[in-house]
Parts: sequence; C-alpha cells; structure tokens
Amino acid sequence: MPSFKRNCFTATRFPRTGLALATALAASLSMTSAHAAGEVEVLHWWTSGGEARAANVLKELMEAEGYGWQDFAVAGGGGETAMTVLKSRAMSGNPPSAAQIKGPEIQEWGELGLLGELDEVADAEGWDDLLPETVADIMRYDGQYVAVPVNVHRVNWLWGNPDVLEQAGVEMPTTLDELFAAGEAIREAGFIPLAHGGQAWQDATVFETVLLATGGTEFFQRALVDLDPEALGSEQMIEALETFKRLRELMDEDMSGRDWNIATSMVINGDAAMQLMGDWAKGEFTAAELTAGEDYLCAAAPGTADAFTFNIDSLAMFRVEGEEHEAQQALARLVLEPTFQEAFNLAKGSIPARPDLDMSEFDACARQSLEDFQRTAEEGGLVPSMAHGMAVRADVQGAIFDVVTNYFNARDMEAEQAAQRMVNAAQAAL
Ligand code: GAL
Repeated sequence: MPSFKRNCFTATRFPRTGLALATALAASLSMTSAHAAGEVEVLHWWTSGGEARAANVLKELMEAEGYGWQDFAVAGGGGETAMTVLKSRAMSGNPPSAAQIKGPEIQEWGELGLLGELDEVADAEGWDDLLPETVADIMRYDGQYVAVPVNVHRVNWLWGNPDVLEQAGVEMPTTLDELFAAGEAIREAGFIPLAHGGQAWQDATVFETVLLATGGTEFFQRALVDLDPEALGSEQMIEALETFKRLRELMDEDMSGRDWNIATSMVINGDAAMQLMGDWAKGEFTAAELTAGEDYLCAAAPGTADAFTFNIDSLAMFRVEGEEHEAQQALARLVLEPTFQEAFNLAKGSIPARPDLDMSEFDACARQSLEDFQRTAEEGGLVPSMAHGMAVRADVQGAIFDVVTNYFNARDMEAEQAAQRMVNAAQAAL
C-alpha cells in the first residue's frame, strides 16, 4: 500500500457563493424543485475525462432538486488513494455523506457501525423488485440497504484502434495465441501492441483477465474468490502467471506509473493498437466523441467470451443527520431513477444497475455487455472482479496486488515462487 501523501489527491469544493448561485439557478429552472437546502458531500475517484462527465450528471440532478453538492474527488484509478483518504476522514469523525465503496468493503464499513440505512427510500422505490439479487445483496448490510448501485462494469474487455490493426494486417484477437501473434505484426508495423499503465491495480486487472482466459471461470472462482490454497499454488496458477508476464513483450518501456486513461488515449491517438481494461475505458472514447464499432472496437478479452468479470460501483451512505440526511436520501433515490441510470452510464461506459431500462440509446458494446451479463448470470460464467474489490476483502486484495505487481516487475522471480507467495498472502490475511 503506498503511503498517503497530501498532495496526491484533489478535493474540490465549490465556493459557498458559487454553490448558492448554482442552487438558486437550478431551483428556479426546475419545475420539480421544492427543497430549500440540504447538501451532500460525495467522495469518489471519477476524475478522468469520461468519469468526470458521468459524475457531473448526479451533481446536476441534485442541484435541479435544490440540493447542494460538494465534490470530494480523489484522483487515482482503482480508488486505493480514495479509500486511504476516506479512512482518515472517517477516523477523525467527519465522514462525507456518501462515498464510492464497493463489494465486500461495504460489509467492512457496516461492521464499524458507520453506515446509515436506506430502507425507507428502498421500500418506496421498490428496489427489491428493480435490482437483480446479485446486485441487491451487495448493497445490504445486516439485511438493510446501506448503499445504492450506480452501474455494472465489465472488466474483461479488449479495446482496439481499427486503423492501427488494419495497418498491421490483423484483426481483434479472440484467443491469447492470436493476441501474441497479432502483437508481433503490430510491433513490426511500428506500433505498441498493448497500451498499459504500470500501477498495481492495472497489473491486477490484466492478471485476473489472463487467469480467466487460461484457467476458466471455475478456476477463477476457486483461486481469486474462494482463496482455495490448492488453486492458488496450482499448475494452473503458474501457467496464468507465466502467460501474464509474457504480455510484457507487447507493452512499451514507459508504462511504469502511467494512469489508465493515458493508456486509453494511446489507443485513441493511434500510438497503440489495443488495451485490456474495464469498460470505464469506453467513457474515454465517448468523451473523445468516437463511435463504437467505427472509430474504436470492443471485444471480450481474448479467451474470455464465455465469462463476465463484474465490477459494480456503488455509493454507500454514512450516518448523517438533519438536512444532510434529507439530501442524502434524495441522492439515493435519484441514483436508481431512469434519468440518472441512463445519462450516467452512457458517459461512464458501463450498463445500468437495473435491467428494466430501454437500451436504445446505448451502443453495441453496452448492449453486448448487458446480454453477456444476463447470459452468464443464468448459465454460469459471471464472476466478481478481484482487482476491483468485488471478490475479497481489502486486506487480501492488497496482499494479492503486491504479489502480482512484484512478480510482473521482478527480473528474477519464478512463477512458482509467485504462486507460493499468493498462497501465503491469502493465508496470512484470512
Ligand atoms: C474502478 C471503478 C470504476 C473506474 C475505475 C478506474 O475500480 O469501479 O468506476 O473508476 O476503477 O478508476
């Protein structure tokens, strides 16, 4: 875990006067506005171009109802820095109204007794009927809703630049063998085959996708969700690690520390052919006004067409009182309403958290995502992303990240050794 440095995040607050002005304007513009005050402070890590556009949808909807929005944006893909900042705020007894907290971590915050419940809104809005059980389950602590889902991201995607692929005479690869073969041709044509950012969470994102491709969903579940020591130390794990490390051949030398959205921009501007990344990358293509299927391509990551690694973003609610509580409950209600779900997810690259919405505005990648989500939920193949905090608790995730990233960067660590470290990491954390 990197140590927390004050200058590595940005916490943007709107000046009081600006906020008052915006609120007054929104209130006078909105037909529905009846609320006078109440303000939410929302911690999140949606700071790339596409993500900021998406987050802004919620701010505008709150303001249109007359509520205030204090943006607590903490830069850093994957949210590790955001979580460090959140912990220090909560420890000082001053948590925000809501924070981007996901998966099993919601349970950890619930156990600390810091989360407030949303049952009144959930009952009034019929969340039990709106949400798939897989999603609703994650949002409850001790039987009560404490968080609200904003979306469903798919992690196992490959993004491609069609011009670069064409110049190299290759197509989007569907297997890992094809990926390595295409990589050689792309390199010979003078491009970087795979854009990557050397940060622990990005290494882990690519690693879990390779493990899914080489080992399949059952193995993924045993190793990265159930933390079965036999699976973690197995031949299959060694194969996944070795294949993952071979991907370095397709990456460039300057990847160390690079942010994920910079890697996406390398695909956008034609320096690189492809990127393995979750569909928040689509938010960057969308923000650059590019069209799916024409200006850029999406496909299930090579070897994973039958699987779906899910990553559900959610906002968990802290215990707050008075007007802030009222505003917080409105925030929760707005998040699951169709207006937000559509506008946010169009900008974010994900699909709505509720499956009953009209998808006609969404592109082919999003429609494929929804179809694959539903198919894999029914037929098997739907797995929670370890790299994005959906599978295991934060301490185990951190320990696995360390092994993965150290192995990926080490000159002299064998895959066998890394697999053994993986066993130890999971055991120590249990
Ligand atoms: C994920 C998060 C996404 C996106 C991504 C990059 O963990 O779920 O919403 O923000 O990190 O930061």
